[in-house]
This record gives sequence, C-alpha cells and structure tokens, in this order.
Amino acid sequence: MSGNIAGKVIVITGASSGLGEAAARHLSAAGAPVVLGARRTDRLDAIAKELTERGGEVLTLATDVTKRDQVSKLVNTAVEKFGRIDVMINNAGLMPHSPLERLKVDEWDRMIDVNIKGVLYGIAAALHHMKQQKAGHIINVSSVAGHKVTPAGAVYAATKHAVRALSEGLRQEVKPYNIRTTIISPGAVATELPDSITEADVSARIHDFYKEVAIPADSFARAVAFAISQPEDVDINEILFRPTRQEL
Ligand SMILES: NC(=O)c1ccc[n+]([C@@H]2O[C@H](COP(=O)([O-])OP(=O)(O)OC[C@H]3O[C@@H](n4cnc5c(N)ncnc54)[C@H](OP(=O)(O)O)[C@@H]3O)[C@@H](O)[C@H]2O)c1
Repeated sequence: MSGNIAGKVIVITGASSGLGEAAARHLSAAGAPVVLGARRTDRLDAIAKELTERGGEVLTLATDVTKRDQVSKLVNTAVEKFGRIDVMINNAGLMPHSPLERLKVDEWDRMIDVNIKGVLYGIAAALHHMKQQKAGHIINVSSVAGHKVTPAGAVYAATKHAVRALSEGLRQEVKPYNIRTTIISPGAVATELPDSITEADVSARIHDFYKEVAIPADSFARAVAFAISQPEDVDINEILFRPTRQEL
C-alpha cells in the first residue's frame, strides 16, 4: 500500500531507532521526502546516508522534543527545504516502567515531558503550516497502554491516554482546515523501548515479555503507510494493533 505517499513531505520525531526509523525507511522507499529528528544525530546520519544511497530525499536535524524551539525548527526546516509539510509523525517516547510506590519522580517528569509535551510541541509546530496549506496529516503515537493500564505502567499509560485524548480533540477542531489525524496504538513491537526501564526486576520482566511476543517494527511502518495512503477524503482516526500472541 504505497499510493498517495510519494512526494509527501513527512516529518518524524524519534526517528533514530525503533518505530520512527522503520517508518522513515518504509515511507522513503515509497517516495516520500523524510525529515528526521532525534537527539542521536550519529544514528540519524547513518539512516540518512543509507536512504539517500537508495535514491531517497532525507534531511536530519538534532531535535529534543522537550525543547519547543527545536521541534519548531525541525518542522520549519522541512517547510523551508521542501515548501510544505504533509505529515507530522509525533513518535518520540520512552517507557521507564516502575511501580508508583518506588517514587521514580524524575522518570515520571521525563515521560510527561517527552510523551505528552513533545507531542504537543509537534502539533504546535505543524498546525499553522497545515492550516495555511488547508491540508495535512498529524499522526500521534499512543499505545495499547493508551487503552489499558497495567501495574508498574501507570504513568506511561497516563501519558499514552493523554495522547489519545489530545488527538481526539485535535481531530474535532481541525475539520475546517482539511487536516487528517491518526492515533497509532501499537502493542509489543521489538525496539529499544524496554531499555528505558531502570528498575532491574521490571526491566527483566518486560524484556522477557518482549522476547516472547514482540513483532518487527515494520508492522508499525505498514500501519502508518496505510493511514497516509488513503484518499484525502478518508481519515483513518485510530489504528490499534498487537502481536497475534499478545493477550493484554
Ligand atoms: N515498541 C513498542 O512496543 C511500543 C508500543 C507502543 C507504543 N510505542 C511508542 O512508540 C514510540 C517509539 O518508541 P520505540 O518503540 O521506537 O522505542 P525506541 O526504539 O526506544 O525509540 C524511541 C525514539 O524516541 C526518541 N526520543 C526519546 N526521547 C527523545 C527526546 N527527548 N527528543 C527526541 N527524541 C526522543 C529516541 O531518539 P534519541 O534517543 O536519539 O533522541 C528514539 O528515536 C514511543 O512513543 C513509544 O511509547 C512503542
């Protein structure tokens, strides 16, 4: 499914690994210029080199999504270079699970800053361009945890519920501007995400779970491509997918 993707200017946050990297590869192969943001620029540059060698158009920019000016710069760079932004994928996130009673307050703050405020900054950066264009597509990455709460996952689930709430509000508000909105809520996908867990017992449990059930990251890339590739009058509002073996 790659129709209606070629030529679209697509900005992706958290593109240095995992789901963002897989989406960048898939969408670039489908003919979209991609603009990739993350903090690890060495990783972004290696991805860009590979995609460029395959004929893709790629821009990279060091971007910390907790810094509003950096997210604005990422989007503005895309518009300066390519003349427009067609799709904004707010993907950057982390998942340092821990029981609330262990009071990992710094990690709670970090999840709120990256998983919620980072998405808001992405919306803020893209929205005025899309309003002017009277076209655009904002894709926000939530999770099964945006639907279900699990022990040790309360704060992460809260941030992912927030992403769904923000996205639904956005969906309703941007109708006059012909902007599409999609929430993508993956189950367990094999990425570096569990490496953000600092509590040894929780980390071991989640790594074991991922080893058992996680599916490859191109599952996410195909879901993104499905949403983007629909005709412009079709707005895929949410995709929730899991590994076939995942129970929760
Ligand atoms: N994998 C899953 O099972 C799963 C399931 C549901 C939802 N998700 C969601 O999918 C998204 C992507 O995660 P992933 O699974 O691909 O994990 P990952 O491999 O750890 O990738 C996370 C990405 O987010 C970026 N990131 C983290 N903090 C950032 C910051 N402050 N500013 C900019 N970028 C930042 C990282 O880049 P740098 O470190 O280079 O900045 C990296 O590119 C997250 O929102 C996650 O919650 C994943």
